[in-house]
Order: sequence, then C-alpha cells, then structure tokens
Amino acid sequence: MMMTGTIKGLVAGAVSVVLLLGATAASAYEAGDMVLRAGLAGVLPDSSFDQNDLGGAGVDVDDGYSLGITFTYMATANLGVGVLGAWPFEHDFDGAGTLSGSGEVGSTKHLPPTVTLQWHFPTGTNFHPYIGAGVNYTYFFDEETSGALSGINLELDDSWGLAAEAGVDFDLGNDLVLSGQLWYLDIDTEAKLSGLGNLDVEVDPWVFMVGIGKKF
Ligand code: NI
Repeated sequence: MMMTGTIKGLVAGAVSVVLLLGATAASAYEAGDMVLRAGLAGVLPDSSFDQNDLGGAGVDVDDGYSLGITFTYMATANLGVGVLGAWPFEHDFDGAGTLSGSGEVGSTKHLPPTVTLQWHFPTGTNFHPYIGAGVNYTYFFDEETSGALSGINLELDDSWGLAAEAGVDFDLGNDLVLSGQLWYLDIDTEAKLSGLGNLDVEVDPWVFMVGIGKKF
C-alpha cells in the first residue's frame, strides 16, 4: 500500500510537471531574438592519420570536455546565425600504427569557434528544432609530447573546415530553454614533429553540448 501510494504520488507529480510545461505559451522565435546557452560540451574525435607520412607511425586523438557557450541571433523567425564558443578543450594523443601500445605520446589544447547559418523549424510547440551549416576554425595551442615522443617538439597547424549542426531548444517558460546541440566539424591538421617530419591528422570530431539557455 505504502509502495502504491508512493508510485501514485510520483505519477501525479510527473503529470503536473508535464501539464505545467505544456501550459507555458509555445512561443516561436521572432526576428531579433537572441538565445545564449551554456553547458557541458564534448569533442569526440573520429581521428585518423596518413599512414605514409611517418612510415606508419601515428596518433589517436582522445575525447575532450569543457564548458561550451553558444549563441543564436534570429535574423528572421526561421533563419538564425549560430556561434559555438568554449573554454579550451584538452585532448591527449595515444600512439597508433607502429606506435600502438605505447600509451600517451602527447596532448594539445584547442579552441574550435564555429559559425553556422541555422534553419529553425516552425513546430508551434515548446520544441524548437533546427539544423545548420557553416564554417569552423580550430586553433591549437600548448602542444606537448610525452612517452615515445618525449623530447620532440610538436606544432599543430590551425584548421579551417566545414561544419554541420543540429539542435533543439525546449522552452521552459520565462525565456529559459533546455538545450541540446550536435555538430560535425571537419578538422584536419598537420602535426609538425621536430626531427621526425610532418603527419597529416584528421580529427573530424562529433561535438555535443547539453545545457541551459536564456532568450533575450
Ligand atoms: Ni577531415
């Protein structure tokens, strides 16, 4: 009985939360609206390297997480300009190819500012889904080597590439939104390793951010 009462209470609570969310006016975005979001961002590389560059030696790029900040400016009710910014991400490199099994061989930090043109679908509900396409610039800094690459100086070229985006804002009322965003970034860099040569690395990450936003 105790159990049933608790479950009934939980269900009643959940239903009232849903009714409350549903009751907030489903306000579409309008021209001139701005949405600023912040949350947890992850950069999940699907990295590969040119097997010919260093006789089969290469690296795998590990995931990195940071504080993400995104911004949308609505030029019309449906067309927005999106910006992805973040606190710097840090990624470790593991040895790959002939360096497989050698563990961590280096790390880098980077900032991947991205600008997209977004299409916001008119749903007439509290969900504001959108897709976007644009350009990413990635700036690498604080490159370091360790393990099998210890003592070798590493420089990573900056990267320009295309970006694709999908996201959704869920209107919580009071101009607050729950936000989920996903990007695919074409990030390609040349790793310059002193005394060894240059290695072409495709980082090509999926980037996600979950957070909360405010509409202005
Ligand atoms: Ni690529």
